[in-house]
Amino acid sequence: MQILVTGGAGYIGSHTLVALAEAGHETVVVDNLSNSNPASLTRVEELAGKKIPFYQVDLRNREGLCRVLEQHHFDACIHFAGLKAVGESTEKPWEYYENNINGTLTLLDVMRQHGCKNILFSSSATVYGEPNVIPITEACPKGRCTSPYGQTKNMLEEIMMDMQRADKDWNVVILRYFNPIGAHPSGRIGENPNGIPNNLMPFITQVAVGRRPELGIFGNDYDTPDGTCVRDFIHVMDLAQGHVAALKAIENHCGCAIYNLGTGQGYSVLQLVKTFEKVNGIHIPYCIKPRRAGDIAICYSNPSKAEKELGWIAQFGLEDMCRDAWNWQRNNPNGY
Ligand code: UD1
Repeated sequence: MQILVTGGAGYIGSHTLVALAEAGHETVVVDNLSNSNPASLTRVEELAGKKIPFYQVDLRNREGLCRVLEQHHFDACIHFAGLKAVGESTEKPWEYYENNINGTLTLLDVMRQHGCKNILFSSSATVYGEPNVIPITEACPKGRCTSPYGQTKNMLEEIMMDMQRADKDWNVVILRYFNPIGAHPSGRIGENPNGIPNNLMPFITQVAVGRRPELGIFGNDYDTPDGTCVRDFIHVMDLAQGHVAALKAIENHCGCAIYNLGTGQGYSVLQLVKTFEKVNGIHIPYCIKPRRAGDIAICYSNPSKAEKELGWIAQFGLEDMCRDAWNWQRNNPNGY
C-alpha cells in the first residue's frame, strides 16, 4: 500500500516506518517537527534501505497538506501526529485541543476531498480512565480521562467513529496503545524526549547514562504487589508490527474497528527498574516520591482481539525492552 504517515519523525512513527518498509509498503511522511528531529528520518531511510519522501507541514496548514495529497495517491493514512505530554496538557489545555483536534479535523477533510478514506489512529489506553475490568478489553466502557491530552484522544475517536457512521466508505481503525518502551535493536532510532522526560523508561535511561542523578518513583503505597503502579509495557518494535497488521482491517473493509495494542502482561515500575538493572548491569538509584496526580494503580490489556482478528501478538519481553532501550541511549547519550 501507499501510506501517508503523519508524525513519522516521532518515536512510534519512526519505528513503524521501518516495519512498513520491511512489509513492502511505500510511505510518505508529514511532520511539523515540533517535537521530533529530522535525523530520525535519515536513520529510518538507512534501516529501510530506501528514500522516504518527507514534507515538513503542520496538519493545520490546509494548503500545505493539500499539496502533499495532490502529489501522491494514498491508500491509507497512519495518523501519529499530535501533542502527547500529559502534564503539559493540563497546563496548556487550549494548545492541546487546538493542535490535536484542529490538526486531525483538517487532515480528515483533506483526506476525504482527495478520495482517501482509510485511517489508522494512534489512541491510548488512557481513554479507559480508571478501568472497571482488568485486563482491559476493547468492550470496557471508556472512562473519564484525567488529562486534556487524554480527552483529545477520546474526542478524536468519537469524531472518527461518527464520520464512519455517516459515510460507510470510511474505514477507521483505532489502536489503543498501552506503554510503549524500547527501541530498534540496531540502536539507531529510539525515544528522544525534549527536556526532562515525563515517561518512565526515558527517565531510567537518562539516569543510566548519567544525565540525571536518580529516578523518582511516584508512589509505593498503591494496592499492587510491591506498592508501585503496574503497567503493560510493550516493545515499540511490537507496536510497530501492530500497525502493519492493522492494515489488514482496512483491506477487509472493517468499517470501524478498535484494538488494544499491549502484551497482556502487567509489570510494576519497580520490576521494570530491577529488570533494567539486571539485563544491563547498571545500578539505577531511585527515591520514592509522592503519587503523581492522575496515575492509576493497575493498567494492562487483554490483547486477544488483535490476535484473533489481525494475527498480531507481541513477541518481545521485558528484558528485550530494557536491553534495546539502553542500547539506544548508550549509543546516543544526547539523543539525535
Ligand atoms: C501516560 C499516559 C498515556 C500516554 C503515555 C505516553 C495517562 C493515564 N497515561 O502513561 O496516556 O499514552 O503516558 O505519553 O495519562 N513513573 C515514575 N517516575 C517517573 C515517570 C513515571 O515513577 O519519572 C511512573 C508513573 O507514576 C507510572 C509509570 O511510571 O506509574 C508509567 O508512567 P509513564 O511512563 O508516564 O506512563 P503512563 O502514565 O502509564
